[in-house]
Amino acid sequence: MKAGPKAAPSARGLVEGDLPESGPERIIAWIEKFIRTPKGTGARGPMILREWQRELIRGAFAETRPRLALWSLPRGQGKTTLCAALGLYALFSGEEGARIYVVAVDERQARLTFEAAVRMVELNESLSKRVQMFQNRIAYPRTGSLFQVLSATPANLEGLDPSLMLIDEIGVTDRRTYEVAALASGKRETSLTLCIGTPSPEGADSVMYELRKWGLEHPEDASFYFKEYAAPLGCEIDDEEAWAVANPALNDFLWPDAMRALLPPKTREATFRRARLGQWIEGADNSWLQPGQWKAIEQPGGVPDGSDVILGLDGSFSGDSTGLVVCSIGTRPHLDVAGYWSNPGDDEWRVDILDVEDAVRAACRRWRVREVVADPYRWQRSLQVLDREGITVLEHPQSAQRMTPATQSLGEAIANQQVTQSGHPALAEHMTNCRVTEDSRGVRVHKVSRSSRQWIDLSVCSIMAHSRARTHATTKPKRRKVVSFR
Ligand SMILES: Nc1ncnc2c1ncn2[C@@H]1O[C@H](COP(=O)(O)OP(=O)(O)OP(=O)(O)O)[C@@H](O)[C@H]1O
Ligand SMILES: [Mg+2]
Repeated sequence: MKAGPKAAPSARGLVEGDLPESGPERIIAWIEKFIRTPKGTGARGPMILREWQRELIRGAFAETRPRLALWSLPRGQGKTTLCAALGLYALFSGEEGARIYVVAVDERQARLTFEAAVRMVELNESLSKRVQMFQNRIAYPRTGSLFQVLSATPANLEGLDPSLMLIDEIGVTDRRTYEVAALASGKRETSLTLCIGTPSPEGADSVMYELRKWGLEHPEDASFYFKEYAAPLGCEIDDEEAWAVANPALNDFLWPDAMRALLPPKTREATFRRARLGQWIEGADNSWLQPGQWKAIEQPGGVPDGSDVILGLDGSFSGDSTGLVVCSIGTRPHLDVAGYWSNPGDDEWRVDILDVEDAVRAACRRWRVREVVADPYRWQRSLQVLDREGITVLEHPQSAQRMTPATQSLGEAIANQQVTQSGHPALAEHMTNCRVTEDSRGVRVHKVSRSSRQWIDLSVCSIMAHSRARTHATTKPKRRKVVSFR
């Protein structure tokens, strides 16, 4: 966009020439007339929709006006780009007070879609001179319409009145967010919730799985449009004909050498099938550790008294469990459990916070605790108390940015047997319970499902403690007492 003070947006409508009057053909023609490809193949040139993309649009915006649509596609099929283009169409469609929202699994993902839309507007002056751009929304004053990106916190979504609700990455969108987003619509004669995603690592626990199941079982439901691109089940993983079935963008704006470069063992088979072949992989193949890996590094016995150690604390409040893991500092760190409190299945249960604090103090008497590394969520006060007592506390929020490298590092250390563990049964159980999600940000561990009672807290403690123990083993101790990453 031009620098300097901005002129007021033009109040004149777009010169649409001879676009079809209505329906999906109008959307297709509008996108091809006004949208330019923001980046990658064909960048800056007009966005030419492929025949398969037109079919998807014809299905979701059919004359029967479905209220809900699901497009299932592997990674890299231009989902986010198409989402942005559809959002802009709806913004400029002429509908008075149109509200277009993009919801994604997190702020970062949502911004990707929004930034693609912003870039599209910037690339076409006839669009940019008619809108006002803000940090999280684009306004089209002529019809009082808004295209807005929402971070997927349900509180943010209540009370909306969308004409088009776009959910990018439905595979990893949690149920509550999906429900609040989907239930917001229905106050207009026509509205659509369009869910776009790639088969989810959460498998049958995910919203996307359920929507797909409904779509497969109820082809007669005119209020729901479902289209899936997937390789035939049972195909060989390197069968490039099967790849082409699942990836309509292959050899077009998706590069086959990039897919080849990711074949197992560089990614796990289950991950590749899900993300690149669009297949739903059942079962526990997204376990963090391979069978036997944990056992292979067992060395019975705790960490010798007086050793230099890191304590990892992952505290819960009510629902799950609280763990305290000790990790020795050295070339081959040893992991053991220094405290464990778990909910026996009672709604009223609350962890005894004072007891946990005492366990930290006891550990500090037993070992030379260089640092207590902890997720501060709900434990801020305890961490402060311990800090005042002279214990070095390091806050380690459970953000992807912090957890991903730490998870990767412990995973590799286990695989290469550069770490040992005491054989504590609860720790072994938590390790077995860990599932992983692997995406562009790397690996993160989580429970089998959000509501699962198969806890993983001791694994989280181990990941944090091991990460800090490695840092301490290779760097000089810091003088500062309280360090925070935030
Ligand atoms: N016709 C087209 N439709 C969509 N994208 C296109 C098209 N032509 C070229 N591209 C380019 O292809 C790339 C598609 O990337 P995009 O992020 O939209 O894919 P995605 O399916 O959302 O990927 P991911 O699965 O990683 O989220 C972009 O760089 C886009 O500009
Ligand atoms: Mg995307």
